[in-house]
Amino acid sequence: MYPVTDTLQRPLRDLRISVTDRCNMRCTYCMPREAFGKNFVFLQRAELLGFEEITRLARLFVGLGVRKLRLSGGEPLLRHGVERLIEQLARLEDDRGRPVEVALTTNGTLLAAKAHSLKDAGLTRLTVSLDALSAEVFRKMSDSGVAVGRVLDGIAAAQAVGLAPVKVNTVVKRGVNEGEILPLVRHFRLSGVILRFIEFMDVGTTNGWRLDDVVTAQEILERIDRAHPLRPVDPNYVGEVAKRWAFVDGGGEIGVIASVTQAFCHECTRLRLSTDGRLYTCLFANEGYDLRSPLRGGEGDQHLRERVVALWSRRGDRYSQLRHDATALPVKKIEMSYIGG
Ligand code: GTP
Ligand code: 5AD
Ligand code: SF4
Ligand code: SF4
Repeated sequence: MYPVTDTLQRPLRDLRISVTDRCNMRCTYCMPREAFGKNFVFLQRAELLGFEEITRLARLFVGLGVRKLRLSGGEPLLRHGVERLIEQLARLEDDRGRPVEVALTTNGTLLAAKAHSLKDAGLTRLTVSLDALSAEVFRKMSDSGVAVGRVLDGIAAAQAVGLAPVKVNTVVKRGVNEGEILPLVRHFRLSGVILRFIEFMDVGTTNGWRLDDVVTAQEILERIDRAHPLRPVDPNYVGEVAKRWAFVDGGGEIGVIASVTQAFCHECTRLRLSTDGRLYTCLFANEGYDLRSPLRGGEGDQHLRERVVALWSRRGDRYSQLRHDATALPVKKIEMSYIGG
């Protein structure tokens, strides 16, 4: 195996693969309708990497140390036949013959129908995004006509087929869904679902992020702890983005992802492959590295591998760390527009 580390000595462990840029929801923090409206031009079919192309690249990345493949989007379950891709990826093994993990992050709207086939295809882990239980707040966050019950049915179906533990991601926006924190905790406590709260981030350039809209992880924890006392739990692995907490009474565990107030760049081992085959070494990078052209140009594995090794070796990204330092400065300095999302 190639030992591949970046300029901050971080290895490459996770590959996040976007399989579509489309979504059937319009969460205000991710795909605000003003920017992703009727006239928005999504990628055309020929531009998307095919399943064989994705699998070939994934195999190459596993050879470089990747141990977890996470499918995302947009909404990955909108990609026709995604189960077939999962099947191919689930067959990949590391250098000691162990299967890699194949995880998926979904908005849950199509999950009730697909949970069974996803499990059969070899999916090992599943995360569902859900920002509210109240119909009104859910509609506000997702800006869609989707009923929250549909997502809850999806989560139940995933649990029923044994896709355990299901994780639920909740992005918290001040003044919009912070009142949902405790209802969500009460709903998922004792259910086996691991609920994780995420600080609202300044991803991209369209979501109108303001530091004032961020409910900090500390504040979230304090609110929960007052109602249901918590104790800290050790991470499952080095570089886990969520900090784990267990209910003292044995009601299960929750997580908080404090990417704004407690940046975790120093342990960031993630690389992102976009729907059209570009590599992004940071969630906040403004430029991707085109891997599709050489791939479609007939380049062999060895050369493709050398490109990735070169890219990762010169990586020095630590955007959240830099942003975090900036938050200690006067408010005016927090203007992030120069970074370009
Ligand atoms: P598991 O530990 O395997 O469950 O994976 P995960 O925590 O990486 O899963 P998930 O994809 O659900 O990530 C949770 C959320 O954390 C994402 O939706 C992002 O909001 C945030 N996040 C994940 N990776 C990064 C990252 O590299 N940088 C930043 N700033 N945020 C991230
Ligand atoms: N801040 C925090 N999390 C976000 N996600 C998407 N946009 C943001 C943002 N601006 C999360 C969603 C989902 C995953 C795909 O990314 O909640 O869980
Ligand atoms: Fe973005 Fe997920 Fe919301 Fe779709 S469901 S808009 S991909 S956060
Ligand atoms: Fe990794 Fe970039 Fe996120 Fe930092 S900001 S954790 S480097 S993806």
